[in-house]
Amino acid sequence: MKVAVLGAAGGIGQALALLLKTQLPSGSKLSLYDIAPVTPGVAVDLSHIPTDVEVKGFAGEDPTPALEGADVVLISAGVARKPGMDRSDLFNINAGIVRSLIEKVAVTCPKALVGVITNPVNTTVAIAAEVLKKAGVYDKNRLFGVTTLDVIRSETFVAEAKGLKPEDVYINVIGGHSGVTILPLLSQIEGVSFSDEEVAALTKRIQNAGTEVVEAKAGGGSATLSMGQAACRFGLSLVRGLQGEENVIECAYVDGGSEHAEFFAQPVRLGKNGVEEVLPYGEVSAFEAEARDSMLETLKGDIKIGVEFVK
Ligand code: NAD
Ligand code: LMR
Repeated sequence: MKVAVLGAAGGIGQALALLLKTQLPSGSKLSLYDIAPVTPGVAVDLSHIPTDVEVKGFAGEDPTPALEGADVVLISAGVARKPGMDRSDLFNINAGIVRSLIEKVAVTCPKALVGVITNPVNTTVAIAAEVLKKAGVYDKNRLFGVTTLDVIRSETFVAEAKGLKPEDVYINVIGGHSGVTILPLLSQIEGVSFSDEEVAALTKRIQNAGTEVVEAKAGGGSATLSMGQAACRFGLSLVRGLQGEENVIECAYVDGGSEHAEFFAQPVRLGKNGVEEVLPYGEVSAFEAEARDSMLETLKGDIKIGVEFVK
């Protein structure tokens, strides 16, 4: 397996690269790319960790050498929020970065599974899809918006609130990855009940968790370490699916034929071709149904911006 990280010298990229160096299966290759000149040095640094994962680093304008032969590409290249900004404020810079990187993916490793971390995810994934369509290599089962951070936050906050072990909690988070489009399905957690007030407060905290980090870092960026962990979990799940492991399930923002929107975060079963099956997200409460329905205008608007950017 070869995993490429684009944006690898950044806050997420370095955390993710470290976790992948220590957790990818033996014999894997890890390929790091960033425009920052330090990137080959990040790879040398990681290469001193004694695991059977070969690391190479590439800097400069062209990601092609990093992408050659990649099975999985994780993209965190781009700018991050500062206090007072919305994720959509990142569009002007990040849209072009994602477009140009995906153009290279389309030529160099069109069969790779691609996970887009760069914000605004609701829009950058639509951009990626349009670029791949234009290049004639789009396979909806191979493109993912990485929303795992919303899942791990939900698991953490619910475990804290209910005195559970975080590893025993699994929560579907559906919709997208910004504000009201993030919808944790708290009603589905087995053996746990919440008051209406708890549901409202927890849902709001999960939706605003990115902003919680942005404000706490006070101008120093957004979530990088928790996102590194989330992206590692998701990237390893993609690899496990590619290697033929059964029942690998993650929530991700995919073009999965949802009745709600062209792209929608929902649970998917991963396999040798990426998405093997889009799973139903199950029964939802009245509160969740209302939150789902009322997010759709925002989500569809975010998607449209991405489609129009490429057209
Ligand atoms: P960062 O500024 O620390 O790192 C970004 C890196 O991208 C830098 O090293 C920069 O040199 C590199 N870069 C810029 N343009 C590039 C290009 N054209 N090719 C290759 N590399 C390029 O930012 P970060 O904290 O790592 O965040 C990265 C992105 O991830 C942001 O857009 C942020 O909003 C997003 N993010 C998403 C989630 C999520 O849940 N999906 C969570 C956290 C952050
Ligand atoms: C997050 O959820 O932490 C990321 O999307 C980064 C951000 O800007 O909030």
